[in-house]
Amino acid sequence: MSTGAGHNGFFRARGARCIAFCVALLAPLLTARAAALAPAAPGVSFDQRIGEQLPLDATFRDETGTPIHLGTYFDHQPVVLVFGYSRCPQLCAVVSNAAVQMLRVLRPSAGRDYTVMYVSIDPTDTPRDLAALKRRDTGRYGRHGTASGWHYLSGSEASILRLTDAAGFHFTYDPRSKLYAHASGFIVVTPAGRIAQYFLGIDYAPKDVASALERAAAGQTGSTVYSLLLLCARGIGISGRYGRVIWVTLEIAVILTVLAVFGGIAWMLRQERKSPRRSAASHVAARIDARASGPRGLYHGVAPLIFAFAFRDWLPPRASTLAPRVDLIFWSLVGVSALLVFGLVGSNLYFLIRYRRGSLAPRPPVKVRTAYVETAWITATTVVFLAFFFWGARIYLMEERPPAGGLVVAVTARQWMWDVRHENGRREFNELHVPLGEDVRLQMTSEDVIHSFFVPAFRLKQDVVPGKQVTAWFRATQAGTFHLFCAEYCGTVHSGMIGDVIVMPPEQFAEWLSRGNAMENLAQRGRRLFLRYNCSGCHDQPAAVHAPPLAGVYGSLVPTRDGRMVRADDAYVRDSILQPQKDIVAGYEPLMPSFQNVIPESDILDLISYVKSLAEPNADPRSRRAQP
Ligand code: CUA
Repeated sequence: MSTGAGHNGFFRARGARCIAFCVALLAPLLTARAAALAPAAPGVSFDQRIGEQLPLDATFRDETGTPIHLGTYFDHQPVVLVFGYSRCPQLCAVVSNAAVQMLRVLRPSAGRDYTVMYVSIDPTDTPRDLAALKRRDTGRYGRHGTASGWHYLSGSEASILRLTDAAGFHFTYDPRSKLYAHASGFIVVTPAGRIAQYFLGIDYAPKDVASALERAAAGQTGSTVYSLLLLCARGIGISGRYGRVIWVTLEIAVILTVLAVFGGIAWMLRQERKSPRRSAASHVAARIDARASGPRGLYHGVAPLIFAFAFRDWLPPRASTLAPRVDLIFWSLVGVSALLVFGLVGSNLYFLIRYRRGSLAPRPPVKVRTAYVETAWITATTVVFLAFFFWGARIYLMEERPPAGGLVVAVTARQWMWDVRHENGRREFNELHVPLGEDVRLQMTSEDVIHSFFVPAFRLKQDVVPGKQVTAWFRATQAGTFHLFCAEYCGTVHSGMIGDVIVMPPEQFAEWLSRGNAMENLAQRGRRLFLRYNCSGCHDQPAAVHAPPLAGVYGSLVPTRDGRMVRADDAYVRDSILQPQKDIVAGYEPLMPSFQNVIPESDILDLISYVKSLAEPNADPRSRRAQP
């Protein structure tokens, strides 16, 4: 530092004040971080009590409602113990699903080699609720004859707490949301009822579980595992693996920003002390004034480059009817936002420097009534952004409402592929062939987790959700091959869930499609499944059971028992198979069982095609082969 002693003293005083201010600014952030790293929900934990004896005399009810002792399920086999409750909106289903998926790949079988025990932590859960969970899990597990190895227990609060305390599973109840905050994971227990090993989180290595089961079967216990806890606590937050990294990064960024701002102010003040008349800041202001008065060399040389850079087409090709519309609104939004940001920040900076304390800029009294200026500004921005809202809504509605007719393609997403089937039965994986210039409607569903069907060149992105059918549509305007991505993180091979959309001239597409016509079409496959799942036993006429005939149903209005009229569309057919109690047809008894977890989603698409084909006159696919 080369400033004189007086300046130094002045600067030190300023500096101290500056640091005090920085600390004051940072304080809330630091406390927020401490709160985030502390257990996100007090009273919630999963303590690893290896070797602890579980209270085998505790009484529960099994899923049929029969009272039992916990010890009933402990004799010669190790036990996989899972805690959860049926109304859990988040983690429980994820935990059970992950556990079941993991158990599926193990060589040892539930029932034969180990017992699965699910204990509800919610005293209001009924055996009926738990029976439903059992159906779900054993359905997913999918090994026949193993259901006797799965036990779903409910019990009183006292029994639950006795067991969970022994297991180190501490949870809390939030009366406001009527939900439990709890941790995730499961426990392997020895046949004698001693805790052998914990598996925390939702990602379990099958190899480790297999060896833990093997050791537990021999009565051996394992050791504590290190794993960050995933908590299920809506509104309290999930503290995951990256929480700490994010907080540290944020802190560093905030500290740097605060230092930059106050360092800059300190620097400016110091410059001003040096030459109060003509500080560096006013040099800048002078330069801005000079630039405004006429173009300079710098401006001439760089501007064209900046323009070329800015107006390069940064986006993927526009290959659908929707793409140019999406791009137009996108660039308009970027433009307006940029204008506002640069306008506001720019004028702020300019005024900050020009009218700083001690500058000699003229400060005449304001002559216009600021109320007018403010009203005009508020009105103008409101109108502009409302216009954007309506514009965006128009495009959104266009995207959401598929035009009638056109080609229908069934797409099933699963870890980790796109399974595409055309109406004539031609099937392809991770490829989608479509004709140029024709509407294509995608009927999509997922078999496992959420995926997202994303074709950037079409500006088309649609989440595909398990248990639901979603529709997306597009009309390609360019022949060629375009990327197809999964745009939703869906597991370890998510990045491999990619493919191609191949847009061909219509004649070429017809030719391509016909090359697959040796296969049965969707409706024909649907008919085969209709027989295989024994739907025909009741729905083919004549049948012993009084069930609604299906011919001509699709597309019509169906009267229900409770006096509503329901349109028999795809969703209706799907619901009728999976939730038959939902819309019972007038004049019929609720006899049909649910086929949830029995019929996979891709088969349901085919069954829908079959029911649809029954609505068309003279179109019984029992006799028809695929048309080219
Ligand atoms: Cu499917 Cu990511």
